[in-house]
Amino acid sequence: IMKIIILLILTKCGISGDKGDPGDQGDDGMKGEKGDKGDPGMDGANGANGLDGEAGDPGPRGDKGDPGMGDRGPPGMKGDRGPRGFKGARGENVVIKRSSFSVGLSPSKSFPPPGFPVKFDKIFYNGENHYDVNNGKFNCSIPGVYLFTYHVTVRNRPLRVALVVSGVNLILVKLISGDQVWLETLRDWNGIYASSEDDSTFSGFLLWHLNKIKQ
Ligand SMILES: *[C@@H]1O[C@H](CO)[C@@H](O)[C@H](O)[C@H]1NC(C)=O
Repeated sequence: IMKIIILLILTKCGISGDKGDPGDQGDDGMKGEKGDKGDPGMDGANGANGLDGEAGDPGPRGDKGDPGMGDRGPPGMKGDRGPRGFKGARGENVVIKRSSFSVGLSPSKSFPPPGFPVKFDKIFYNGENHYDVNNGKFNCSIPGVYLFTYHVTVRNRPLRVALVVSGVNLILVKLISGDQVWLETLRDWNGIYASSEDDSTFSGFLLWHLNKIKQ
């Protein structure tokens, strides 16, 4: 509310003169007192969107899911053949193949039962264990040509003896792995005898081996 200051100017009585010219405009009045605070204005328009905030920390790991439904699927297809492997290391230069035995009969084994392998039970040499002292048979492990010899003392009875290799009587024989060789007396002609002075022996030697042929 503006306060208006009215200035009255008094004059002497008398004949009224002509009305004077309007006076000059007075000086500006003093500054009024501060008015009361006005009413709040209306809401302004929305401001522009702010910048994106920084990414938050990862949340905790979730629980394991439930097993899937339905039957197990069929097996997948066979994979492709892998690449060829590296060449193997060079083999050993020489492999010496040995096979030999020499065995004798102890006195208590004189007159062995005919029709069976003679069980020579005294081992002079059986380094590779190819002669089986339990059944009197030599079992071939290295295919090759073998020489078999036997020397028997005959006493009291006649003797017929045979070197048996799968039913064939031979001295120099070509054997394959698994062939078995033994000495056998025939029927009742079993006069093989052994004592401290008289020996009966059976020996076999690999002369040379034959490389295995692919079957
Ligand atoms: C004989 O030797 C071969 C070759 O080593 C082996 O496979 C076989 O089992 C042996 N046979 C016997 C009765 O020992």
